[in-house]
Amino acid sequence: MAGEARRIVLLGAPGSGKGTQSVRLASALGVPAVSTGEMLRAAVSAGTPLGERVGDILATGELVDDATMAEVVRERLAQADANRGCVLDGYPRTRAQADTLDAILEATGVSVDAVILIEVPEPELVRRALGRQRADDTEEVIKTRLEVYLENTAPLIEHYRRRGLLQPVDGDRPIPEVAAAILATLEVAA
Ligand code: AP5
Repeated sequence: MAGEARRIVLLGAPGSGKGTQSVRLASALGVPAVSTGEMLRAAVSAGTPLGERVGDILATGELVDDATMAEVVRERLAQADANRGCVLDGYPRTRAQADTLDAILEATGVSVDAVILIEVPEPELVRRALGRQRADDTEEVIKTRLEVYLENTAPLIEHYRRRGLLQPVDGDRPIPEVAAAILATLEVAA
């Protein structure tokens, strides 16, 4: 199905490899990887008004509010490079965000094509996140991000399963193997 427009959501706990895989998948599909975590971190580094608003929230591992995220994602998906699709990493993270994403896509006559759930056991998630040593990767913040994920984002698994969009992939293996499994699931030639 390479060549067709694709709108793929990557779902998974913090440290499951969404960022790592989104870049690879986006490149295979010829669409942009849209990482809300990276966009927010870039805004904080650049000291933009958005960055000033969300800096403290990122530092604690809590979620930025849905209205702010809607603005960020709506603006990003309106850019020309996202016309043919995108790989979303880190959005949606709440049921309200999932509904907003549907509304944004429906406004241009498209919809989410697939949701890849990257599954990794919790001890491995913590090991990976601690190994990365970003400013918001301290043990305490990682713990908060995991709790926030379980409470707010994990319910989306059932939401997308019911819609027939969920495709689970074992993320507890080497990066190229996970990438190949995602492509195979989506029936994209490597
Ligand atoms: P975000 O950056 O999205 O944080 P996250 O979901 O916690 O994701 P991570 O970046 O920690 O993990 P990942 O799954 O992308 O894994 P990665 O590929 O990096 O968001 C940060 C913050 O922004 C949030 O806490 C929140 O405050 C805010 N935010 C963002 N989006 C928001 C939204 N929609 N709503 C509200 N707030 C929002 O991999 C992790 C490490 O493991 C790397 O070192 C990598 O090299 C390694 N690794 C990856 N795959 C493998 C593998 N297969 N084997 C071994 N190592 C691997």
